[in-house]
Amino acid sequence: MAQFKLRSLKLLTFTLTMIRVLEITLAAGNDIEGPALVFIGASQSDVGVNNVLDTLAKANFPPYGRDFVYGDIKGATGRFSNGKILPDFVAQNLGVPFPVAYNSPEAKGPAALSGINTASAGAGWLNGTGSNLGQLIPGTEQVQWVKQWQQGLVSRVGSQKASHIIENALYLINIGDNDLFYYLQNAELRKTYTEEQYFQLMIDVAIANIKDLYNSGARKMTFTSVTARGCSPLQITLYQPLDRSKCVASVQTLVSAYSAEVKAAIQTLGQSLEGSKFYIADVFNITVDLFLHPSKYGLEHQESSIGCCGTGLFELGPLCNITLDSCSDANEYLFFDAQHYTEEAWRIIVDSFFDEMKAFLQL
Ligand SMILES: *[C@@H]1O[C@H](CO)[C@@H](O)[C@H](O)[C@H]1NC(C)=O
Ligand SMILES: *[C@@H]1O[C@H](CO)[C@@H](O)[C@H](O)[C@H]1NC(C)=O
Ligand SMILES: *[C@@H]1O[C@H](CO)[C@@H](O)[C@H](O)[C@H]1NC(C)=O
Repeated sequence: MAQFKLRSLKLLTFTLTMIRVLEITLAAGNDIEGPALVFIGASQSDVGVNNVLDTLAKANFPPYGRDFVYGDIKGATGRFSNGKILPDFVAQNLGVPFPVAYNSPEAKGPAALSGINTASAGAGWLNGTGSNLGQLIPGTEQVQWVKQWQQGLVSRVGSQKASHIIENALYLINIGDNDLFYYLQNAELRKTYTEEQYFQLMIDVAIANIKDLYNSGARKMTFTSVTARGCSPLQITLYQPLDRSKCVASVQTLVSAYSAEVKAAIQTLGQSLEGSKFYIADVFNITVDLFLHPSKYGLEHQESSIGCCGTGLFELGPLCNITLDSCSDANEYLFFDAQHYTEEAWRIIVDSFFDEMKAFLQL
């Protein structure tokens, strides 16, 4: 009897071990189904990096997130919108999990196998951009985080599997708009650098970081152009408050000029980096068109220059908060706060390039 018990115990232990091995194998197998996703960026991609930083550039309180639902997660997460934003729709369209913020506790666990998000609201390519807002993670530091994530994969799943994940991952880079905005606001910078010199500073940092990513194994990258920032309620309030039906021409010109230069520089670089695939998602035109013709895209609120939160003219970050009345259906609007798109707008913007990007990068 005792011997029989011992034998069944051994059998049970053996079976449990086998189940564990099988589980681990399956889990590892599942994690590399579909590409890992890596997001580098600013507020249009931030999913919570800024939540724990000492900064004004935060959105982890209502009414932000009022329509956000993802599995068990509901409400404000740090996303600058009523609901899902750019990285969420990219992940959702690919049918893979939403990458977590790199500095969140979840990023220490299995979630990191499906990718990581380092985007930090207010940040730019240049280290000084957004320093008036408090602490944030500039582009170069985000790229260092991405490299740490890559090294972490090696110790988690071994170098062979890690290389596979790293090479097949999509790196989506959506940063630069804050550098331009910071330049416009900063008389000192404008005295020091001409527009052309400032663009070159930004592009030099962008190129150095892209090379760094390539050298660490990244191969598939998407670069989004700067959106039509001159069409945001805040810019219109700052520059032409009485003429709200048009985008601010001077801001739009700056954005277009920078976008054309950075696009050319990235395309040239892509041709010289063997095995790389660079996709440029030019979302400038669609974001202008959404502003001018919201109903064409099914957005019912016709005054694009007025956001959903508060008066819709200037509120964002801490100024967009629960003490204010907001609109009833945010997804009828283009802008949720005075600078950031609604979930519905992001769905439309991502859909405008997703299929082409997926085919081009063979995701
Ligand atoms: C920006 O900061 C990073 C550290 O995160 C540093 O390595 C880099 O040299 C800085 N860039 C410039 C242009 O100062
Ligand atoms: C954007 O619109 C301009 C002017 O209508 C056009 O010349 C340009 O090719 C468009 N760019 C893209 C990427 O669609
Ligand atoms: C909420 O917004 C109001 C109005 O803009 C502002 O005065 C107030 O300081 C904000 N409250 C918080 C907690 O940030």
